Amino acid sequence: MSKQTGPALRRLSINDFQRMKQAGEKIAMVTAYDATMARLVDAAGVDVVLVGDSVGMTQLGHDSTLPVTLEQMIHHCAAVRRGLDRGAGRAHLVCDMPFGSYQAGADEAVKNAMRLVAEGGAEAVKLEGGADYADVVRRIVRAGVPVMGHLGLTPQSVHKLGGYVVQGKDQDKAERLLADARAVAHAGAYALVLECIPAELARFITGKIGIPIIGIGAGVHCDGQVLVVNDLLGLDDGFQPKFVKRFGEVGKAIHEAVHSYVSEVRQSHFPAEEQSFHGQNLRLLQLVESDAGESSVIGAPV
Ligand code: KIV
Repeated sequence: MSKQTGPALRRLSINDFQRMKQAGEKIAMVTAYDATMARLVDAAGVDVVLVGDSVGMTQLGHDSTLPVTLEQMIHHCAAVRRGLDRGAGRAHLVCDMPFGSYQAGADEAVKNAMRLVAEGGAEAVKLEGGADYADVVRRIVRAGVPVMGHLGLTPQSVHKLGGYVVQGKDQDKAERLLADARAVAHAGAYALVLECIPAELARFITGKIGIPIIGIGAGVHCDGQVLVVNDLLGLDDGFQPKFVKRFGEVGKAIHEAVHSYVSEVRQSHFPAEEQSFHGQNLRLLQLVESDAGESSVIGAPV
């Protein structure tokens, strides 16, 4: 009897996001850093999976994204690629270009973007910056790699911004942000993340710029939203910025599950019969008779 399978899900491409913007369909994007999470979020219906350089904070224990290397991004992106390929595989895969991988010049940026695609399996790269990076965006796109821009609170510039603070709050800065968004779109970016800016400004930019605008801390009127998966799952009790909504309490669920495991191990309740194997007619147990004729356990301290 042949196995009944449904119609294969098609992988989303940059053209789908343009169509979704035009049709007013919202785009749901989330980060993932390993194969298991990639498979889970893909199966739950996200449109875009981002291997964010937030991996530095969420998985690697750093207090910023700055120490993350290109090799680490490739390593995590390749794991996410395998997770998507073994699951539904519908989501579009974007990988962040880490700090130092594109700021020194377009030639190096093109080479590094290509490594994220060739070795990491990304379908697009994301980089932070506005008009100053328009040439870098143009060159990467010309090399055949789609680029997603990122403006507003750009974490790789945390020291220049003076901290993780809301951007574009006054007239001058709002105008600068709009000009940067235009420059990035004009350079060929296919989508743009706006992070931590006033909702009114994000709404205005979303109406003015032809490419999909994905918000994080930028209000509801963007073409889509992105969140760090650890934040939406409630994995870190100590981190709850205003723009994050916890859609689950997975951190608490993990605590309870592991706590139950520890207590069952300590009380010899785990493993039970259901989790144990048995042989037939085994004659493997051998007691070593001590000189004194007492039995001792092999390997036991004397
Ligand atoms: O690195 C990241 O996770 C990001 C998102 C917050 C947009 O850039």
